[in-house]
Amino acid sequence: MTKQPTSAKSKSDANPMWGGHYKDGPAAVMQQINASIGFDCKLYAQDIEGSLAHVRMLAKQGILTGDEAAAIEQGLAQVKAEIEAGEMAHNLALEDIHMHIEARLKEIIGDVAGKLHTARSRNDQVATDFRLYVRDGLDAIDGLLRDLQSALLDRAEEHADTIMPGFTHLQTAQPVTFGHHLLAYVEMFGRDRRRVADARAGMNELPLGAAALAGTSFPIDREQTAAALGFDAPMRNSLDAVSDRDFALEFLSLSAIIATHLSRFAEELVIWSSAQFGFVKLSEAYTTGSSIMPQKRNPDAAELIRAKTGRVLGDMVSLFHVMKGLTLAYNKDMQEDKEPVFDAFEAVTMSLVAMAGMVRDLSVNQEAMREAATHGYSTATDLADWLVRTLGMPFRNAHHVTGAIVRLAEQEGCQLSELSLEAMQGVESAITDDVFSVLTVEHSVASRTSFGGTAPENVRRSVQEARKRYAA
Ligand code: ARG
Repeated sequence: MTKQPTSAKSKSDANPMWGGHYKDGPAAVMQQINASIGFDCKLYAQDIEGSLAHVRMLAKQGILTGDEAAAIEQGLAQVKAEIEAGEMAHNLALEDIHMHIEARLKEIIGDVAGKLHTARSRNDQVATDFRLYVRDGLDAIDGLLRDLQSALLDRAEEHADTIMPGFTHLQTAQPVTFGHHLLAYVEMFGRDRRRVADARAGMNELPLGAAALAGTSFPIDREQTAAALGFDAPMRNSLDAVSDRDFALEFLSLSAIIATHLSRFAEELVIWSSAQFGFVKLSEAYTTGSSIMPQKRNPDAAELIRAKTGRVLGDMVSLFHVMKGLTLAYNKDMQEDKEPVFDAFEAVTMSLVAMAGMVRDLSVNQEAMREAATHGYSTATDLADWLVRTLGMPFRNAHHVTGAIVRLAEQEGCQLSELSLEAMQGVESAITDDVFSVLTVEHSVASRTSFGGTAPENVRRSVQEARKRYAA
């Protein structure tokens, strides 16, 4: 168990980084509530990358000497190696990753370490680190979305002709192809990728050089640091640079949309893999057994993907609440920006990987899908369309006539295609034998060749087109 917070004063002296005008140390609970090292240690690589760009710029501008910069660069490389070797102990008195790195740098290279923070503040430093993290996160998510699209496209191509019931209200509506259903998700994840790309393009400006909030009197070159860190440009306003977290809100928003898409698909997998549906069988790799019921294969990965959406939405809402109402510029509230983003990133990336794996692995029961597609009078619309096309009936009348024929089939307890011609003619005398040609599920899907429709030929064409458009 962690130690309970107390209000006792800590024995440590005033903070060595900023405590020049302090004579007392903080309350123990102040250290606990103030420290972010427990989570922002994740940003060590971004922090060092930002510091390296900064110190090189300081040297180039003649603000530090070449020797000073070289010492700092070497020291930072050592700190990085130590952190990666698991050698950095967390010290609440040092608050965050920025001060941990600087304090260790000082132990290694001495007082010259203090020059690294020239023309910089933790405010522009943390904003830079966090942008670098989010940018990497967006790139990683894009790659995983693309991989999931690629898995879906492979299965869609394989199942261009596989017929399943299409649902509205989870009631059988019209037959569709399984390939077409999978391609719906390819499009959704394609829009997610567009959102990722938009977010990346919009956020790719550098806060570093804004210093605490007002800029600096040192002759820094922000174009240089921006280029070194792969940003398109330095941010134009120092107050904005250190105080907005809209890029994190955007990251969380698009993550919530991705998670929502994944959740719908996960729910379908849960339903489809049930004994009642039996459309698909998930592989052992993504399911668990039950300790008491030997026959069980539970779709845990799908269920957890469905559930992770809740936490990602919570992450998004939590940061919106932190940010709303904050005055410019930096406020310590903003230290709470990181955990929701880290949490959402982990949930979304894990879910994307698991979903791609499930898609690649799942086996499809084509007979069960086709069989289900023939139930629920799924070709009733085809019958109505036939009445319109062949008899020239207005659609509304055709709908009415078809409804009467469906009622007849219900009474007989049979499919539409199993009714006799005479029975149908009892409802509408002009109906001919030709009507039976449109009542099969195969005919139904093959006829839906309109742009974006479910016909197998459309699916095959769409797969090829999507592979190009998404490079997937
Ligand atoms: N740990 C802080 C954060 O994450 C770094 C910035 C601290 N700035 C300050 N003015 N105290 O927000």
